[in-house]
Amino acid sequence: MADLDELREGSEFGLGVVAGNQGYHVKGANNLPWGMKDRLSRIFNPKTNRTVMLAFDHGFIMGPTSGVERIDLNILPLVQYADCLMCTRGILQTVIPPDTNKPICLRSDAGTTILTELNDNVLIDIEDAIRLNVSAMAIMLAIGDPAFEAKTVANLYKAVDSGSRYGIPVMGVTAVGKQMARDARYFGLASRVCAENGANIVKTYYCEGFEKVIAACSVPIVIAGGKKLPEKEALELCYKAINDGASGVDMGRNVFQSASPAAMIQAVHGIVHGGLTPEEGFELFKELTV
Ligand code: 5RP
Repeated sequence: MADLDELREGSEFGLGVVAGNQGYHVKGANNLPWGMKDRLSRIFNPKTNRTVMLAFDHGFIMGPTSGVERIDLNILPLVQYADCLMCTRGILQTVIPPDTNKPICLRSDAGTTILTELNDNVLIDIEDAIRLNVSAMAIMLAIGDPAFEAKTVANLYKAVDSGSRYGIPVMGVTAVGKQMARDARYFGLASRVCAENGANIVKTYYCEGFEKVIAACSVPIVIAGGKKLPEKEALELCYKAINDGASGVDMGRNVFQSASPAAMIQAVHGIVHGGLTPEEGFELFKELTV
């Protein structure tokens, strides 16, 4: 019990100063509870309202593909430049040092590898996501897949239910089936389905007419990089997405398969947070390339 004898009476009540209403920077998150907002603020830098997420969950579906053969050697040196890490729980627990202290967007469903067609994905137990102190859970949606669309939408639904219970945001990841058109109509539909079903973030692909995809989605969109492009083209892709209203990138191969991954992620960072043009970003990439 505190000593009451020396209790000093308060005198600075700011009488006449109206308590400010705190706005919240992340799109569509104004009405979320504190814990959700705290986690989203770890992912989206409150100064720029954007994020550079580094995705290296590829091994769970592709195995040790180029650039992620040794996460300890390939990825750990890049972690310092990322705002958020997207990976599986296996890699998180075995390779990422717990004192890294970066927000984690955990790959939270699994079931398919590149050796089979899409099949029956299952969800992580929410208790494990809590134990791992993740800042978001990433769930894949196969919109337009006749066999598994409903299953993956149900997975998102369940993840949003359990995430809401414990204050953990969910990122809907739109997968593109081989037969899907990669256009604004498809990505607009898939992104909107994620948001309507409760996703707090959407990860999708850049396309012509992307500003319409962004406008019709009530939560922030981050873009995947997709297959490896020449660095200048990848930086142009980032720039166009940001210019059209994307809230950042969640990039993998275009960073870790680059000739100079550390230079590339810093150039991406310059475009996302620093307002660099693709040309300036590419100059920075060349300067930093060792
Ligand atoms: C797959 C994913 C991957 O993390 C994603 O594709 C990001 O990586 P890349 O930039 O290499 O496309 O979410 O479902």
